Amino acid sequence: MKISRTLSVAALALLPHQALADSNVRYASTDTVVLKSDGSKPDVQIVDFGENHEGFPTFEIISASGNTSVFEVSYAEGYTALDSYMSDGPIIMAAAMDSYRVKRYNISKPGVFENRLVQGGFRYQKLNLSSAGELHLSSIGTRPTVDTTPIKDLPGYFECSDDDISRIWSAGARTSQLTEIPKDSIPDFWIVSEQGSLVDSVAPQNYAYGSALSSYNLSVEVKPSTGAFTIGVLMDTLNAGLFINANVFEGTLAAVASDGSSAIATASFEPLLSAGPVPVVVNVQGSNITVTIDTKDVASFSQSRFTFGSFGLGAPLAHSAVFKNLKVTDLTSGQVVYDKALTNRTILDDFLMGTNPLNTIVDGSRRDRIAYNGDLDVSVGVSFASTYATDFVDGSLDLLGSYRLESGPFVPTAKIQQRPLPAPLPINATGLIGYSFNLICAMAQAHYFSGNQSIATTWAPAVVSMLDWADSKLQDGLFTLNDSSLVGDWNYYDPPQTGASAKFNSLYAYALQQSTPLLKAAGVDATVYEARLDSLRKAIHDRLWNSTLGAYALSSEIADGFAQDAQAFSILAGVPQSNGISPEAILQTMEQKLLLDAGPLAFSNETVAHGFARKISPYATSYHLRAALEVGDGGTAKKLLKSLWAPMVDPSNANYTNCIWETLNPDGTPGLGQGTSLCHGWGAGPTSELNKHLLGITPTALGFEEWQVKPITLDLASAAGRQPTPKGTIHVSWRFDNELLRMEMDGPKGGKVYLPQPLRIGPDVSAFHVNGKSIAADEFPVSVAGPTIIQQVRR
Ligand SMILES: *[C@@H]1O[C@H](CO)[C@@H](O)[C@H](O)[C@H]1NC(C)=O
Ligand SMILES: *[C@@H]1O[C@H](CO)[C@@H](O)[C@H](O)[C@H]1NC(C)=O
Ligand SMILES: *[C@@H]1O[C@H](CO)[C@@H](O)[C@H](O)[C@H]1NC(C)=O
Ligand SMILES: *[C@@H]1O[C@H](CO)[C@@H](O)[C@H](O)[C@H]1NC(C)=O
Ligand SMILES: *[C@@H]1O[C@H](CO)[C@@H](O)[C@H](O)[C@H]1NC(C)=O
Ligand SMILES: *[C@@H]1O[C@H](CO)[C@@H](O)[C@H](O)[C@H]1NC(C)=O
Ligand SMILES: *[C@@H]1O[C@H](CO)[C@@H](O)[C@H](O)[C@H]1NC(C)=O
Ligand SMILES: *[C@@H]1O[C@H](CO)[C@@H](O)[C@H](O)[C@H]1NC(C)=O
Ligand SMILES: *[C@@H]1O[C@H](CO)[C@@H](O)[C@H](O)[C@H]1NC(C)=O
Ligand SMILES: *[C@@H]1O[C@H](CO)[C@@H](O)[C@H](O)[C@H]1NC(C)=O
Ligand SMILES: *[C@@H]1O[C@H](CO)[C@@H](O)[C@H](O)[C@H]1NC(C)=O
Ligand SMILES: *[C@@H]1O[C@H](CO)[C@@H](O)[C@H](O)[C@H]1NC(C)=O
Repeated sequence: MKISRTLSVAALALLPHQALADSNVRYASTDTVVLKSDGSKPDVQIVDFGENHEGFPTFEIISASGNTSVFEVSYAEGYTALDSYMSDGPIIMAAAMDSYRVKRYNISKPGVFENRLVQGGFRYQKLNLSSAGELHLSSIGTRPTVDTTPIKDLPGYFECSDDDISRIWSAGARTSQLTEIPKDSIPDFWIVSEQGSLVDSVAPQNYAYGSALSSYNLSVEVKPSTGAFTIGVLMDTLNAGLFINANVFEGTLAAVASDGSSAIATASFEPLLSAGPVPVVVNVQGSNITVTIDTKDVASFSQSRFTFGSFGLGAPLAHSAVFKNLKVTDLTSGQVVYDKALTNRTILDDFLMGTNPLNTIVDGSRRDRIAYNGDLDVSVGVSFASTYATDFVDGSLDLLGSYRLESGPFVPTAKIQQRPLPAPLPINATGLIGYSFNLICAMAQAHYFSGNQSIATTWAPAVVSMLDWADSKLQDGLFTLNDSSLVGDWNYYDPPQTGASAKFNSLYAYALQQSTPLLKAAGVDATVYEARLDSLRKAIHDRLWNSTLGAYALSSEIADGFAQDAQAFSILAGVPQSNGISPEAILQTMEQKLLLDAGPLAFSNETVAHGFARKISPYATSYHLRAALEVGDGGTAKKLLKSLWAPMVDPSNANYTNCIWETLNPDGTPGLGQGTSLCHGWGAGPTSELNKHLLGITPTALGFEEWQVKPITLDLASAAGRQPTPKGTIHVSWRFDNELLRMEMDGPKGGKVYLPQPLRIGPDVSAFHVNGKSIAADEFPVSVAGPTIIQQVRR
């Protein structure tokens, strides 16, 4: 039975336990936990789920005695986050999960409790009873909102003789599971009824069509249950802005930056005694703000941190309020921007607070839970290799592909509550320009892998439009942009790459190269794009190759240092290969200049002087790994796997979540402090690369009509696994017995198998039997269909 998510926690407690019995719930433990506080010293206990989970946290109260009105549960990905009262939150960017990582319960009787909103990735829960009473809890668990198929039962699979590498594969698969958000799984952010909108302990979400406002008058009726509420103004699309927190029972007001970094203004006023609805007016005139509560001016201040942006309504941690009759007038035009009673659920869409209409892949389980073009480029491959969630790939393309500008580029991100746009946007400014090329690569990958003609037909016009726009930005043969607002990248904390950047140019080249089959399938004459690719490869080399560095320079403006991802994309796009430089030499430079014990830096040391941070990126390294394996450099691949990924997925690592992290410091710790996502899909690249290069399974024609098996052994003793395809699953296993290869495979027709490289005993002293038939080493690759066994024998 499914319980209605709109029931309040108090109402849930009245339901009999059986109503919640759900075989899907993952319990940390069914042991009873006893919490006992005298009201001065809180009783705090930590529950470890062993790895990341996400969904609706649930627990059962077996008995409650004394004062049990202040019981808090905190959620955290890493243990050390629990040292902070707010844990690794709040996370306010989207309404795809609860804003706070702490939840307060007022327990009055036994029963089963379940969070109304989703908690994204957490490994730990901290239980904290601070009122003078005693609680006996059991069945502490979470009802998942994502797929929980055991990893070994997923459509795709990989394991090998090296435990680190096997774990890396499965942590990537698990990251894929936790970032694939099923449609309609996100509950309403507010509880809307004819009494108004109950906003319970969640951060304001911006009105989705108000980001250009700068001068407006907002009026709303508020009935706070505990006195406190929040009105957000001058907010951007990720809800960064000015939060006005008022408490009418205390008579206090504090205007703060949404990230908590600064208190901008405070005020006090005569407290209100009644809990009845109060009229509140916030007047915003650029930087000048006036707040009126119950017709009295209570605060008037000027600030310069936020100067334009939208509005939203919220309630601070452990507070709730009912809002009604929200009216916003643009003071510049005099137009009414918003005027609704807040009594109809349809208003949720105005603030992107309703459910998610499509199956989509987000960046991280806990942060940001938003779809990004750049991240998707890695996630598509990981999904195909493990969960095989093709409808999530299609849903993500449908959403992100629809957010494009008439001029060509794509908007880099979309919230999963958004619906695909019916037509391109008539604007010409976007950001994160590289992500537009990543999305083309993701589309091309999804098309080539699935052979789904609809992907080609649907997206070819958008791909053409973006590629033609890129061509219009060439200067001296290179894609060149000086507008710093366009050329930020995944490393948002680093300077934008203005001028002609090696990253954007090599990624542009890769997008040209990868999209050729998609364009051809849609009937587009690809010769013009092929010619552009040839010229671009030459121009990148001519203008950006720095032979002293042994690498492509960061950009036309920063010529004495280099970016890891730019080298990887250059190799993947055939840039050095077509200019007489061996990719192995560049991989060697990267190892010398970037590789630390904890993994490769994303930028060479020289870039520090230009303001670049020293960080290790599983995202950039996913492309580094792909480049190494595509040119057959198993040595580099093994070093990357062992240095960066192996420690992250080691269960003894203090921050282990059984997922891949977002960013690391040079010492291997999470790179962005408590804010670091410890379950981020963009770093899970090895999962797809291991299938493609250790099992060695790749399509060689659209949709696996033809395919090959061409394993790189990395000197391992064995590897085995399976790759789902539209034509059926391909199984491959290989191992060395007494140094002799034994390989078994099965799959649909159209396969060709190469001998794995390197072998342990050379073909000069051995022979091969394929299904018992003797085949010479130089006769490989051989065609295979159905079950096939290759046995190497000594001669
Ligand atoms: C807890 O709930 C009870 C009623 O169920 C209420 O009387 C009490 O004030 C609440 N306590 C707190 C701290 O919210
Ligand atoms: C336990 O909860 C109380 C009440 O919110 C809080 O003051 C205290 O800091 C919490 N303790 C911990 C360790 O989180
Ligand atoms: C219960 O404990 C809370 C927090 O310590 C306190 O605010 C409240 O007044 C107590 N309730 C009663 C009925 O003692
Ligand atoms: C703002 O709205 C309130 C409530 O509707 C109204 O009383 C007030 O005059 C308005 N202020 C301005 C400057 O429009
Ligand atoms: C804000 O207030 C200051 C002083 O009160 C005034 O000089 C300024 O023009 C105001 N700005 C706007 C945008 O109204
Ligand atoms: C909510 O609004 C929709 C669209 O305007 C309307 O069809 C529906 O009847 C309304 N629901 C309620 C409960 O008023
Ligand atoms: C965007 O369009 C405006 C108006 O057409 C134009 O002034 C501006 O230069 C364009 N910006 C870019 C980056 O193309
Ligand atoms: C092909 O792609 C479209 C989206 O472009 C999707 O709706 C459809 O389900 C896909 N077909 C198959 C067979 O996967
Ligand atoms: C970008 O700036 C460089 C010098 O800083 C200049 O040579 C080039 O013309 C500029 N390009 C554009 C598109 O403005
Ligand atoms: C190439 O890189 C080296 C090493 O950082 C630097 O000294 C040199 O100036 C760069 N060459 C050019 C042409 O910028
Ligand atoms: C890079 O800089 C770090 C810190 O200053 C230094 O320890 C390291 O040796 C440098 N690496 C290279 C390859 O120059
Ligand atoms: C775990 O993460 C915390 C917070 O980022 C950090 O302080 C700590 O050093 C990390 N420990 C390890 C072993 O990575």
